[in-house]
Amino acid sequence: MYDIIVKKRDGGELTKEEIEFFVEGYTKGEIPDYQASAFTMAIYFQGMTAEETATLTQAMVDSGETIDLSAIEGKKVDKHSTGGVGDKVTFIVGPLVASVGIPVAKMSGRGLGHTGGTLDKLESIKGLEIEMTKEKFIENVNTHKLAVAGQTGNLAPADKKLYALRDVTGTVNSLPLIAGSIMSKKIASGADSIVLDVKTGSGAFMKTLEDSEALAREMVNIGNNLGRNTVAVISDMNQPLGYEVGNANEIKEAAEILQGKNVEDLRLLSLEIASHMAVLAEKFSSYEEAYEAIEANIENGKAFQSLRTLIEAQGGDVSMIDDLDRLPRAAHEIEVTADQDGFVSAIDAESIGIAAMYLGAGRATKDDEINHGVGISLKKKIGDPVKAGEALVVLISDDEQPNDSIQKVKEAYTISGEKVEKPTLIHNIIK
Ligand code: URA
Repeated sequence: MYDIIVKKRDGGELTKEEIEFFVEGYTKGEIPDYQASAFTMAIYFQGMTAEETATLTQAMVDSGETIDLSAIEGKKVDKHSTGGVGDKVTFIVGPLVASVGIPVAKMSGRGLGHTGGTLDKLESIKGLEIEMTKEKFIENVNTHKLAVAGQTGNLAPADKKLYALRDVTGTVNSLPLIAGSIMSKKIASGADSIVLDVKTGSGAFMKTLEDSEALAREMVNIGNNLGRNTVAVISDMNQPLGYEVGNANEIKEAAEILQGKNVEDLRLLSLEIASHMAVLAEKFSSYEEAYEAIEANIENGKAFQSLRTLIEAQGGDVSMIDDLDRLPRAAHEIEVTADQDGFVSAIDAESIGIAAMYLGAGRATKDDEINHGVGISLKKKIGDPVKAGEALVVLISDDEQPNDSIQKVKEAYTISGEKVEKPTLIHNIIK
């Protein structure tokens, strides 16, 4: 291990054997944390070639179980978001893609900090079960074309151990390490191809477009190097996506999109991602053809029916989706208003995410309980005109006076005297 550290420290290119030696040895506990720390720091400063990064990713996949989806007929496409505020795209694209006959086997996670988790949001629906055996998961995808479940099995344990080490050694922010970490979990989950939604902006993991594009390129390279067709959509996270941030209120907004409501940014991004997924699944020969078929399924009701089927198949109370007012909702609505006339010029998405977390919609620590009925409804987004005293957001709260959240929302909004353009939603597509 000493020689491998020194080789990377001095800018050398590691062989497959050297990378595998490290990943296997570290996973088994044969290589100590202090050597792994020095090694990740060397990678942080020297980087990795595309080939080294792909090898590292594959070695992390091989460190644990993988999900074998070969019992599902057809090409399996997965989607992954690097995490944003108000990101309920999975609940929209899953049904959209399934509605055109493409199997979607989605494994999702829980939320921590300012971004919510897909599973937490889904559990707003009474009775809905997200823990299931691999067999049940596969059966549901074969029967209904769609299942969303918590991660089963011990996927990429090398990544788990390495990510925890990077977290305390200042080595999270290395592009090959981030890209390898994310892709190892996706590849271990068994999909044939992957659409990545790489967020960019104030509420994203990557704050600048340049960094987001670089991360997207790394991940696309890994996917393609390891035989998974991968496309990345770089989408804006300089403000929350859609108007709802929370849990049940996000499910409601997603269901409304599937019923044909036009929440512009959310509908557009969902159609974009779903269409790329459908092309990767080789169901359609062009993006335009896929887009048209998917959009038609919103209008003819098939996409919404696909969401109902998912909920029913996983034991959820579908009456909550048929009548969205039956979803949990906290008792109090508190307006946070503008102090001056003008135009909304910025909404710090991270602060909105934190304000929602203070209400109970998210977790500050791993063991916190989620309150599904609380959240934030945005009334103004970037570019909107606003008058002093008009509501910027409505807080949906158990507490009549949630001062911390009110304060955080006030900090999040910037109002300027000049007219402001709406931000670009989709910055780039990387294939
Ligand atoms: N998310 C991951 O899963 N891994 C990283 O390294 C960073 C973000």
